[in-house]
This record gives sequence, C-alpha cells and structure tokens, in this order.
Amino acid sequence: MSPTPAIPGAVPTPPNLGVRFAGVGSALPSKPLTNADLEQLMDTSDEWIVQRTGIRSRYIVDHERGESCLTLATAALRRALDEAHLAPTDLDLIILATMTAEMSCPPTSCRLAADIGAGTIGAIDVTAACCGFVYSLNTAYALIRSGLYRSIAVVGADTLSQYLTYDSSGRSTAILFGDAAGAAILRATDDTNKGLIAQAMHSDGARWVDLYIPEDLDRDFPEGHEPSPEHLKRVQMNGRGVFKFAVGTFSDVIQQTLHQAGLAATDIDMFVCHQSNARILSAARDRFGLSEEKLYINIDRVGNTVAASVPLCLDELTKAGRIKEGDKVMFVAFGGGLTWGTSLWQL
Ligand code: ACO
Repeated sequence: MSPTPAIPGAVPTPPNLGVRFAGVGSALPSKPLTNADLEQLMDTSDEWIVQRTGIRSRYIVDHERGESCLTLATAALRRALDEAHLAPTDLDLIILATMTAEMSCPPTSCRLAADIGAGTIGAIDVTAACCGFVYSLNTAYALIRSGLYRSIAVVGADTLSQYLTYDSSGRSTAILFGDAAGAAILRATDDTNKGLIAQAMHSDGARWVDLYIPEDLDRDFPEGHEPSPEHLKRVQMNGRGVFKFAVGTFSDVIQQTLHQAGLAATDIDMFVCHQSNARILSAARDRFGLSEEKLYINIDRVGNTVAASVPLCLDELTKAGRIKEGDKVMFVAFGGGLTWGTSLWQL
C-alpha cells in the first residue's frame, strides 16, 4: 500500500521513514546592551551580573527600526530555508515557539507564514516559555513520522525586553534576558536511522507563580503578591526558587532521557541547552563529567533568549562545524510554567 494518502488531508498509513534537520538559521536584533550599558541605567555592576549569571552582553530589539518578534522570526526562518536550499512553498507547516507573540490574535506564526511567502500552509504558535522550541521539535517529529507532513519549520523567537523594566526597580530580571530568533527545517527522509531517539516533556503548573507576566490587576496576582499597576506586563520572577528548581531538574531530565535511550552521557556528541544561567549549565557539566566542548555556553554574549536560546546555540554550533550529520545531540530546556523537557536526536 502506498504511504501517501490518496485524498489530500486524509490520515496516511505511517510510513517507514526518518526525520532530518535540513537547515538551521538565526537572527539577533541590532541593539547591543552590555553590562556597562546597564550600569548606566540601574543600580547594578558588571561584576555582580557576571558572577551571578555569566552574562556580559545581550541584544534587544530596536522598535524605531521596526524590529520585533515577527521580524526576527522571519529573518531566522529565511536563513534556515536558504541553508536547506528550499523555497518557502516547500514547507507544509510552521510551528513558532514564543511567549512574546505580536498580539494575542492573530497567531504570530500565521503572519510569519505570510511574510516569508509560504502560502496558506498551517501555522501554529506554541507557548511553553523557554521550553517552546524543545516541545515543538518533539511535536514536529511526531507529525512527520506519522506521515501527515513532510517539511516543517520549527522556529523559536522571543523579545522579552518588552516585558522588562530598565531601571533599578527591574534589575533582577532586566540583566538576564536578550532578544533573538532561531529556526530549523525538519524533513522526512528515507534514512530511518535519522530522527528522535528519546524525549521528555514535563510541566508543573502549581509553580506558575515562580515566573509570570500579569496582565490584569484584579485577576493575575497570586496570594502574597501585592497587585501593582507597575508590575503589569512586567516579568515577575522568584529568581532563587527558579534557580534551585533548575539546577536539580536540568540534570534529572537529562538522566531520564539517557536512561530511556539506553545511552551514557559520554555517548552524546553535544548537549544544546537553554541558556538561563552559566552556573546552572556548569552544574550540569560537572554532574555528567562533560568537557566544555560538549555542553555549549553562549549566554555570555546573548543572555537568556527564552525560546530562541536553543535554536540559536544550534545554529552557532552548526556554522562552527561542531554539530554534523551522524552526531547524537540532546536539546534540553526549562522555563516558566514551570516546564522542562528534552529532545535527543540522531542527526
Ligand atoms: N545587580 C545588583 N544587585 C542585585 C541585582 C542586580 N542586577 N539583582 C538583584 N540584586 C540584589 C538583590 O536585591 C539582593 O540584595 P539583598 O541581599 O540586599 O536583598 C541580592 O542581590 C541577592 O539577590 P538574589 O535574587 O537572591 O540573587 P541570586 O544570587 O539568586 O541571583 C539570579 C539572582 C541571577 C536571578 C538567580 O537567582 C537566577 O539566575 N535564577 C534563575 C532565573 C532563571 O533562570 N530564570 C529564567 C527562567 S527561563 C524562562 O522561562 C523565561
């Protein structure tokens, strides 16, 4: 029986195929924001920021130049398509992971599809904070592996700078985040060795108050948090709580995924991790005895770029020749929700 459905849109018999990364791309906004710049805006110091987070600089969107989540996503996706030698019309679906959509309606992914000239293909926004790209990779794999789609663009784009306050009142969060976008094109392949080996997706909504952005004065402030107009549309974070959670969970979810796959940490060629804090990443390196080369860190240059963080690392590593076909690569993320997850691939 042919694996391709005779009727467009009909559910096909799952074909025997693999899934490969056909191209990756990324985009940074134009405005650099160094620790020295922040020292001018708020009561902080380069020393404090570097010691606590490992961050030295980040980039944020310049609204006067028209930069936004959508323009960054568009640039990253165009670069990924170029690298894959594909036209936008070769895509069957776009999944955009973001927690900073242009507005609640329409989904930013729909405008992304239109802006790159992908026609009327399906387009979905996925909101899973910093885990969005990892969740979307797992989802795209399942959709391709089922035979429903052959080419899916997975994009992570965030501009959290719009929800930060660049004065002393916002110093505990403003220093952490940068804006960016990254994209990967996933395609069906006859090489059945390529694809997802193991994955994990978790959430704990009982801990939503550890990281939230209130929008309504009467409704969105949890018990013990004084409702305040200045906090509306501003990131509220329990830094210490998230840090403690992340240090343990990061390593535990890596261990869980290795166990599922029957692999050891030394079998993995590269860990591509969400960049939330250099200390959290170093703790994971230490726990698994990994060399610096095997767990990439770029937070010093770009900060925490939320859903863009993982694909931005992937693009930099690919361009540097440090990730290549045949490698085993584990993507790892955690974030607001709380959410955490992995995606382990044979490239
Ligand atoms: N500069 C100078 N001092 C500061 C700053 C700053 N930018 N921010 C806070 N401080 C002060 C505090 O006021 C406090 O002073 P006090 O002791 O006089 O009260 C002191 O520094 C210590 O503050 P803490 O918040 O306890 O500092 P901590 O060591 O926990 O570091 C940090 C804060 C860097 C935020 C850390 O907790 C962290 O990285 N947490 C994880 C956060 C994270 O990863 N969030 C992203 C999740 S991903 C997502 O989904 C978006």
